[in-house]
Amino acid sequence: MNEHAHPLSVSERADELEEAKMHEMERILTKSTIAHLMDGEVKMDTSPEMRAKHPGKFFLMGDDPRLPPMPEEPTLVDYFRRRFASTAHLLQSATHALKGGQPEKVVLACLLHDIAIVSFIRCDHGYWGAQMIEPYVDEEVAWAVKSHQALRFFPDESVGYGYPDLYKQLFGPDYRPEPYIVEEYKRARAHKWYMTSRLICLNDIYSFDPNAKVDLDDFVDIIGRNFRQPKEGLGLDNSPSAHMWRTILWPTRFL
Ligand SMILES: [Fe+2]
Ligand SMILES: [Fe+2]
Repeated sequence: MNEHAHPLSVSERADELEEAKMHEMERILTKSTIAHLMDGEVKMDTSPEMRAKHPGKFFLMGDDPRLPPMPEEPTLVDYFRRRFASTAHLLQSATHALKGGQPEKVVLACLLHDIAIVSFIRCDHGYWGAQMIEPYVDEEVAWAVKSHQALRFFPDESVGYGYPDLYKQLFGPDYRPEPYIVEEYKRARAHKWYMTSRLICLNDIYSFDPNAKVDLDDFVDIIGRNFRQPKEGLGLDNSPSAHMWRTILWPTRFL
């Protein structure tokens, strides 16, 4: 029991639990500053402060024991299974594209379009997601993933795509995208690969037949043919985005 004069708030209780858990651990776990910013706090974990709280312990520099263990040479499929917080929406979108007879390139783009949301950073997810996959996929796939974020806000009646009802529910009926999104939309609209990205929007569905079975196994071959899995393991290669995968692999490393 605590001795606080006031009952603890939910977040204070969560902090206490986290603290208690940390004391049981062999190593000191730190959060990146961006994680604190996301909690509405402009602060950082400093080493003197953290060491004072956890005397005699060293900082964690490897696997976080709270997370599912990853193999030595992780593949994209391992990240899907052990790091992605949710895969249903991605699998549904890819299944929809596959059933619609889309080429593998489009199916892969649908399968990967929101990976930043499910594994990394939500805001500007199109840009983060595109950079994560860029070294490993066809340039057109990465471009389409980047651009879908902007295109989602803009209808294209010629292909039967309207402004999503879901966005009205999520952001309110008066929401207007930021100017940089409007500019991105204009650039994408005039781009030679416009339709590839638009196809992500068309297959980007949330209302899906609840009885339809979706399974990552159905996409393992498509991933194998279209995603250049590095032999060292995704994140352990030296591609321009390997550090992003490593951050997902070991999110609490001190440095
Ligand atoms: Fe998206
Ligand atoms: Fe989506």
